[in-house]
Amino acid sequence: MKKVLVVYATKSGCTQSIAERIGAVMAQSGAQVDVLSPEKAVDPSGYGYILVGSGIRIAQWHRSATAWLTTHAEILRSKPLALFSVCLTLVKHPEQAEEVRSWIHPLVAELGLEPLNHGVFLGWGMPEKFSLVESTLMWAHGDRCGDFRDWAAINEWSHLVAREMALMGPTNEIADGPGHH
Ligand SMILES: Cc1cc2nc3c(=O)[nH]c(=O)nc-3n(C[C@H](O)[C@H](O)[C@H](O)COP(=O)(O)O)c2cc1C
Repeated sequence: MKKVLVVYATKSGCTQSIAERIGAVMAQSGAQVDVLSPEKAVDPSGYGYILVGSGIRIAQWHRSATAWLTTHAEILRSKPLALFSVCLTLVKHPEQAEEVRSWIHPLVAELGLEPLNHGVFLGWGMPEKFSLVESTLMWAHGDRCGDFRDWAAINEWSHLVAREMALMGPTNEIADGPGHH
């Protein structure tokens, strides 16, 4: 059976919610899907298809995600791989997706990874979801408050990646049913 691993790094829970939606779309292909945090120290060798994502803090992925990529780089080089980043920059600067991707480029190049795709998604800027220090930093940075998660974009990207990974055929429709949070 086809097995898909979605690894997510989060602090506030935002990236977890997005990873779960991505996993739900991947499961529509009939694959078995596990959605896990890198703290679980999950070994990717038993999986055929891998997606790794992280929330952003000050233009960087969470350390747990970069550490996991580094530890498992050799296996990840041999499998279909996709990355995703969750951030707020695009709220004010929707044209900066490539810049967000570039924040992880040096590590991806150093590890010799060749992701098929790197999705960039809007997250949330909700003070109650963050520590006081984090909320203050966000406020100082001028980020807007709100939940900017775009489920249609996340669904669309997940279907695209499932097709790029040859998990789904070109005729699979984009699901638009329940599961939207
Ligand atoms: C302290 C702090 C720094 C952040 N820095 C950035 C940043 O540099 N660029 C960006 O686009 N978003 C930034 N964000 C926004 C987060 O990436 C966004 O809130 C995301 O939804 C967090 O998801 P997570 O908790 O799952 O990582 C920052 C948020 C906080 C709290």
